[in-house]
Amino acid sequence: MVEGKFSRRSLLWLGMGALGTFGACQLGRSQEVSSPLTMQLGEHGLKTYAQAQGVLYGSAVRFKDLKADPEYAARVAQECGVLVPEWTLKWHVSHPESPPLRPAPDQFDFTGADWIANFARTHGLPLRGHTLVWYNSLPPWLAETINAENAEAIMVNHIQTVAGRYAGQMHSWDVVNEAIAHDPTRGRSDGLRETPWLEFIGPDYVERAFEVAAQTDPDALLVYNDYGLDYDTRENDAKRTAVLKLLERLKNKGAPVHALGTQAHLWGDRDQFNARKLQTFFRNVADLGLKIMITEMDVNDKNLPSDIGKRDQQVAHVYQEYLTTALAEPAVIAVITWALSDRYTWLSEFHPRADGLPVRPMPLDNNLERKPAWESMAQAFASATSR
Ligand code: G3I
Repeated sequence: MVEGKFSRRSLLWLGMGALGTFGACQLGRSQEVSSPLTMQLGEHGLKTYAQAQGVLYGSAVRFKDLKADPEYAARVAQECGVLVPEWTLKWHVSHPESPPLRPAPDQFDFTGADWIANFARTHGLPLRGHTLVWYNSLPPWLAETINAENAEAIMVNHIQTVAGRYAGQMHSWDVVNEAIAHDPTRGRSDGLRETPWLEFIGPDYVERAFEVAAQTDPDALLVYNDYGLDYDTRENDAKRTAVLKLLERLKNKGAPVHALGTQAHLWGDRDQFNARKLQTFFRNVADLGLKIMITEMDVNDKNLPSDIGKRDQQVAHVYQEYLTTALAEPAVIAVITWALSDRYTWLSEFHPRADGLPVRPMPLDNNLERKPAWESMAQAFASATSR
């Protein structure tokens, strides 16, 4: 019945593409729930609250953590409806337990990515790919090798090989990540970031990447992903304008871009959130015929008070305020957090607190228990309109 009503592509986009291939665990769970209003918070994982409204919830994961920590892995399976590898689909993240995807110009190492793909398959979950074309996490050999003659071939070969390997399993791909400059008011008039791809291929590298991704994995939702789109500041205004211009240009050229990914790395102590501005931006994106995904959400608590109760309440408030605003836009189809638990978040390493206390930016705490942030998320999903 479901297969008849929806195409394989729309099932994948709803996070149910795994059904046909891997079993009915997703649909089984969401069908048990007739109305979100009747749900008792706490009874189900976040994915169930989200899915009841046609929204996909998931998290970034690391291969080494899933492998070494079965208790954590079980919580991931319980809460998440989609997984995105935090490291292993990037060209080069060096970690002793997670070999880089591109160790050499003619080599690919899929050890970590395959492990996560198998974990996802075993649990009936689709994957999100992050990311095919980025300026960061590139291997040292690239800078020594790339030139105007070979750049396009290197990019195309990478997309075809990596997206080709997981074709049919991917809910979506961040085809191009962070192509707009950190501060687009400086530099080029089109706001594009100076990257090797821009330097050696030119501004059309963005649409070329989308074309190749579409040919390679026609079922996946193809996403342009960026950060700095959340606040009512001069910088974020400029970033929203530049991203919108880029998306308009891509659409006008007929590039197969299907969605904007907005990372949503938020701050617990910032009071520059303006719901009206975010909603207007989302509406402008949706008017281009694009879906929207919240792709890397977390709430940085490094500047919040030491008191855990107060900190957790403020972090929860930011989740609630942002998600309630975002989910009011029907084009928003997914919410991904950039970790599930405080046990494994990039923020403990990249943004530690000055008082030395562990950071608490995620929906589950260090003991994998649900926090007020989890409740805010479940509530925001449960009260969202169905899409
Ligand atoms: O663990 C190794 C260590 O052994 C080595 O000595 C050290 C020196 O290079 O590197 C360590 O690996 C680092 C890894 O994080 C773990 O700490 C990598 O270099 C570092 O590049 C990697 O950072 C990741 C970063 O992206 C760059 O890929 C973060 O974990 C990851 O959370 C972050 O994610 C990004 C998204 O992809 C895009 N949006 C922003 C987001 C946060 O920055």
